[in-house]
Amino acid sequence: MTKNTYSISEMDIKDFEKCQNIWDLKNNSATAQKFYNQIKEGNRKTFIYKNSNGEFIAEISLVFKDPAPQFTIKGKRVYLSHLIVKPEYRGKGIGTLLCDYIFDYCKKLNYSEISLAVLLSNYNAMRLYHRLGFTRLLCVGEDEDGKYIGLLKKLN
Ligand SMILES: CC(C)(COP(=O)(O)OP(=O)(O)OC[C@H]1O[C@@H](n2cnc3c(N)ncnc32)[C@H](O)[C@@H]1OP(=O)(O)O)[C@@H](O)C(=O)NCCC(=O)NCCS
Repeated sequence: MTKNTYSISEMDIKDFEKCQNIWDLKNNSATAQKFYNQIKEGNRKTFIYKNSNGEFIAEISLVFKDPAPQFTIKGKRVYLSHLIVKPEYRGKGIGTLLCDYIFDYCKKLNYSEISLAVLLSNYNAMRLYHRLGFTRLLCVGEDEDGKYIGLLKKLN
């Protein structure tokens, strides 16, 4: 029988390239550069789910100041960004674990609300977020990827 151990911890910026194991940084270089710069500036914290071999399996991030004013409020509302699980590990509860982890993390920092944006076409993510309590509609919008909604969850 194999022991199924994992860890979740904040990523050190020097390990940023290991995220290539989860998503294709090389072919999404503009996004990767943006995230890297935000981590460096202290505006983004990324948390990594690793398996027992220390392999990067999934990630989730928090952004403290987003250019769109509805998504972040200083000391009150924080933005959940870029939750992603390596495809072959999906549907096993890892996305839920990561979300629960950052809810606790945000509560410890005294945030009372957490926001996110999700594409209307992303059925798995929409279902997951609804189950986790993102039930308030913040905004609707459209970008180059399609129509999305902004959702809010109260943390207290
Ligand atoms: C959305 C995502 C992060 C969810 O992660 P996950 O580890 O699969 O999440 P969980 O296992 O906790 O829950 C996923 C739900 O889909 C179901 N599911 C079953 N098989 C699945 C599969 N192969 N892929 C995804 N979800 C599956 C799960 O049972 C669960 O259902 P429930 O919500 O009714 O309980 C993951 O699908 C992903 O990385 N998608 C691509 C990136 C993305 O869209 N991120 C969100 C951006 S807003």
